[in-house]
Amino acid sequence: MSTHPTPQGSGRQAGSANNGAKKVTVPDIISKKTRGEKISCLTAYDYPTARLLDAAGVDISLVGDSLGMVVLGYENTLPVTMEEMLHHTRAVRRGVARALLVADMPFGSFQLGVNDAVANAVRFVKEAGAEAVKIEGGEKRLELIARLAENDIPVMAHIGLTPQSVHALGGFKVQGKTLAAADALLRDARAVEAAGAFSLVLESIPAEVAERITRELKIPTIGIGAGPACDGQVLVWHDLIGLSFGVDPKFVRRYADLRPLLEQAIGRFVADVTGGAFPGEAETTHLPAEVREQWQSRARR
Ligand code: KIV
Repeated sequence: MSTHPTPQGSGRQAGSANNGAKKVTVPDIISKKTRGEKISCLTAYDYPTARLLDAAGVDISLVGDSLGMVVLGYENTLPVTMEEMLHHTRAVRRGVARALLVADMPFGSFQLGVNDAVANAVRFVKEAGAEAVKIEGGEKRLELIARLAENDIPVMAHIGLTPQSVHALGGFKVQGKTLAAADALLRDARAVEAAGAFSLVLESIPAEVAERITRELKIPTIGIGAGPACDGQVLVWHDLIGLSFGVDPKFVRRYADLRPLLEQAIGRFVADVTGGAFPGEAETTHLPAEVREQWQSRARR
């Protein structure tokens, strides 16, 4: 999509999201593990990011509830609502043609009972075009995972540091560091697989624990701060491009540092506007010559 006037007109034009590449499905994600191929996953919250990830060949676009922190400016993910998640999932849907689109169920959307949770998951599929949902929690979510799987809504489970449990966990801390805690993670992982989850996010856990879970499970593990043995890796988009305000967790690798670049661009715009250098002739449209003459002569009257 160009933001510049086209020869035909001066409006913006939406580009097509399809780059002709083969669609990634839930079975494709599972068979990647069987074939020993790593899975790439990034978060996306809007149309342009979804377009970029798709064009780059990212396997899974995850509309994470990290939306609340990196886009909406909340202190944690707890305030994020269903309506906010649906709104952003729809925007990503419009930009994704290839990747598997997974939507995160926000805090409060699955705690009030299994029927209510299933109804919310159905909204993600029906109203926003999600192909799977992600749910935080292990053994305590088995009934829900099973109900969703039975109803053909694929579930990506999420254990370890589950940010929606920030108060219960006492902060954003690495999980599974004691033998008992590592055993509990292994139990969670086996249980969500048995309940029907098609993949499992492992967040902020020791690499050795993630390695054992990955080895034991048939479904792929997607790690974030869980070491290199996981079947795939996920990062939050704003961390990857250096646009998250705050301290990066240890597991973040910044692949680009866009903030100084954007600050410079904004500064140049402000200077051009205040100094009268923007817009220039190149960005200006004039009346056709004959209309211009009439216009000017009328103004002189
Ligand atoms: O909300 C999110 O972005 C996530 C990923 C980091 C896994 O849960």
